[in-house]
Amino acid sequence: MAEWFQKARRLQQLPPYLFTEIDRKKLEAIRAGRDVINLGVGDPDLPTPEPIVASLQKHVTNPAFHRYALDQGAPEFRAAVARWFERRYGVKLDPEREVLALIGSKDGIAHLPLGVVDPGDVVLIPDPAYPGYLPFSRFAGAEVHRLELHEQNGFLPDLDAVHERLWERCKLVYLNFPNNPTAAIAPIDFYARLVELAHRYRFIIAQDAAYAEIYFADRPASILEVDGARDVAIEFHSFSKTFNMAGWRLGFAVGAPDVLAALAQVKSNCDSGVFTAIQFAGIDALEQYEALTEPLRATYRRRRDTLVDGLARLGWQLHVPQATFYVWARVPGGISSTDLASRLLDEADIVVTPGVGFGRCGEGYVRMALTVPDHRLSEAVERIARLKL
Ligand SMILES: Cc1ncc(COP(=O)(O)O)c(C=O)c1O
Repeated sequence: MAEWFQKARRLQQLPPYLFTEIDRKKLEAIRAGRDVINLGVGDPDLPTPEPIVASLQKHVTNPAFHRYALDQGAPEFRAAVARWFERRYGVKLDPEREVLALIGSKDGIAHLPLGVVDPGDVVLIPDPAYPGYLPFSRFAGAEVHRLELHEQNGFLPDLDAVHERLWERCKLVYLNFPNNPTAAIAPIDFYARLVELAHRYRFIIAQDAAYAEIYFADRPASILEVDGARDVAIEFHSFSKTFNMAGWRLGFAVGAPDVLAALAQVKSNCDSGVFTAIQFAGIDALEQYEALTEPLRATYRRRRDTLVDGLARLGWQLHVPQATFYVWARVPGGISSTDLASRLLDEADIVVTPGVGFGRCGEGYVRMALTVPDHRLSEAVERIARLKL
């Protein structure tokens, strides 16, 4: 490479990648043949259910689907999303204007600020948070402020703590419920308050519902159930966790038509839609969603109980997650989250994600993903029991 080359300044303004050292150690351990239990990644370990795979196998042979897809999604896919949304949430959507197909929800989450944010606008992003909200907010020139999530507030943002002057300059608020990494669920009156603020101060809400179908108690609500939400909010949904389809890249956004149109316009300049055969397999997934998702919830619930009960017996402080496949545990013994992650890897061959990697307010916690079988979680608990933490 020519020695004068430098990557663009916009990449240099992104936060440094905090896990280089842990990633290096993890690869080293795996290469050395150590028996690593990886609780670090939020990537479902189970295969896509057979009926969805069979549906793709059928649709992939259709030559009409080998041509460019429609940018906004096939009309059949958008209609299926609208049918599903009404069945699941009791909200009727116009498939033409209120549904947009995405190449996985990250596609929409990332590109949204390019369509709705101007340089100097304020974007509010939770802390801790999934890392996908920040980069394009910065690329769009936004002034990013964080909405702190604390245990004493049930990991909900404290809306009263945001200064009026910040609301006045705010253009976009990202939310994520059920939440990665804290596993918190938002009550509908929280959504209602934010929708009211959005109307008053004229900002957009982007609620990330990637984990909406991984729940163990009450079914999480949609922000679009709130009166007036459809004028100011969009919601992202994903097939990745709901149907173990992370590698397929299929998701959708629903809600405020003008916001979806702006996002679609950004996307029309950089991609050409989702492979239509995948959208048709997605239709079959949505149509059978009750039967396909119930076993998944049962599996994660069992795994959750194995890990949470085991760690609680060791004296760890944690809430029993009521949604998502993450356990967000307080770091025992007053050490930092990265020190704990290093010790677990060095001394027990267990990978966890240090909370600080999701933001400053994640310090003091580690995230463990329930994406390994029960016996591996039991094994992890036994290994932790042998450590003196
Ligand atoms: C909170 C959250 N939102 C969005 C995504 C992205 O999902 P998708 O596969 O639909 O792009 C993830 C993936 O881990 C996530 O944790």
